Amino acid sequence: MAAEKNQHILLTSRPKGMPTMDNFKFEDIAIPEPKNGQVLLKTLYLSVDPYMRGRMNDTKSYVPPFELNKAISGGVVAEVVQSRSSELEEGDLVIGNLDWALYSVAEDAQVRKIDPDLAPITTNLGILGMPGLTAYFGLLDIGNPQQGETVVVSGAAGAVGSAVGQIAKIKGARVVGIAGSEEKISYLKNELGFDAVVNYREAGNIRKALKEACPDGVDVYFDNVGGEISDAALSLLNQNARIPLCGQISLYNLEKADHGPRIQGQLLINSALMKGFIVSNYASHFEEGAKQLGQWLQEGKLKYEENIVEGFDNTIDAFLGLFKGENLGKQLVKVSELSR
Ligand SMILES: NC(=O)c1ccc[n+]([C@@H]2O[C@H](COP(=O)([O-])OP(=O)(O)OC[C@H]3O[C@@H](n4cnc5c(N)ncnc54)[C@H](OP(=O)(O)O)[C@@H]3O)[C@@H](O)[C@H]2O)c1
Repeated sequence: MAAEKNQHILLTSRPKGMPTMDNFKFEDIAIPEPKNGQVLLKTLYLSVDPYMRGRMNDTKSYVPPFELNKAISGGVVAEVVQSRSSELEEGDLVIGNLDWALYSVAEDAQVRKIDPDLAPITTNLGILGMPGLTAYFGLLDIGNPQQGETVVVSGAAGAVGSAVGQIAKIKGARVVGIAGSEEKISYLKNELGFDAVVNYREAGNIRKALKEACPDGVDVYFDNVGGEISDAALSLLNQNARIPLCGQISLYNLEKADHGPRIQGQLLINSALMKGFIVSNYASHFEEGAKQLGQWLQEGKLKYEENIVEGFDNTIDAFLGLFKGENLGKQLVKVSELSR
């Protein structure tokens, strides 16, 4: 490779509370040389995701913590710019879990080829990728929404939440979304056809506002945020309610543990099911899920938004923006243009 520069982003210290720029470092590095069976990849788009905040802590979880002074890694769509693999050729587009870097090398088996003619390539990181599949499996397998039931989703205007609400509508449910700005509220109601919406930042008494939005109680609560919003939703459960426990973003930057009401009583008297899940639990069914999501997309039953920040230099800002509600839909960073 000629004179292009390479850079990656390191985690240099573990954040306490909300991460700051001081926890990260942009470092200039050489463009790596692919070995036999490897490809050199140019990052086109990278995904910033709330779960990455958990990986910045040194605690046991379903994925190991990011190592200090090593590149952060996550979902990336990239272009093969040099190939020493028999499986991939120059110009192929791929998705994989790759370093936050301008260029990286990967084994061919570490990435999956994507077809840019099927859907815009960014959808592989959003509605047809990890967040879309999270919504699909969490809602349908655990939430199992039925015609006429009330489905409440928090984080409703985000990547996962906006898909959850639309899939619940496809299944004939009455959908109530909770989000944090008037722009998001208007999008959910006017663009996505949610039946009722609550702006938790403006509502004052969130429990009262949610009760008004759910006159028949809550049959499914898809929990993306935790905290007081979820306390309110859980106080309105119907008999045999289901609660897919997907995320707890309101807690990720807390320095002290947050203790809410003890909810076991609510679950008990309502014969309710609360089940945590990680999207990778469903890995063996991803193909089937992506196919169905793709079909709904083509039929116009599913819409999506992307919030695309331009420039690798803005990656950390884009990541931190997730915790300030700056994104409508999937938050991505556009790193480079396609070569061809
Ligand atoms: N279980 C799994 O396998 C899995 C997979 C993917 C994602 N997740 C989880 O699902 C949730 C949504 O992820 P996503 O990728 O779709 O992100 P996202 O919803 O696109 O972005 C995060 C959104 O969370 C909301 N938020 C941030 N801080 C908040 C707070 N303190 N209280 C309430 N809302 C807050 C913001 O929207 P507002 O403006 O509305 O506040 C923000 O836009 C996250 O908790 C994530 O960890 C789980």
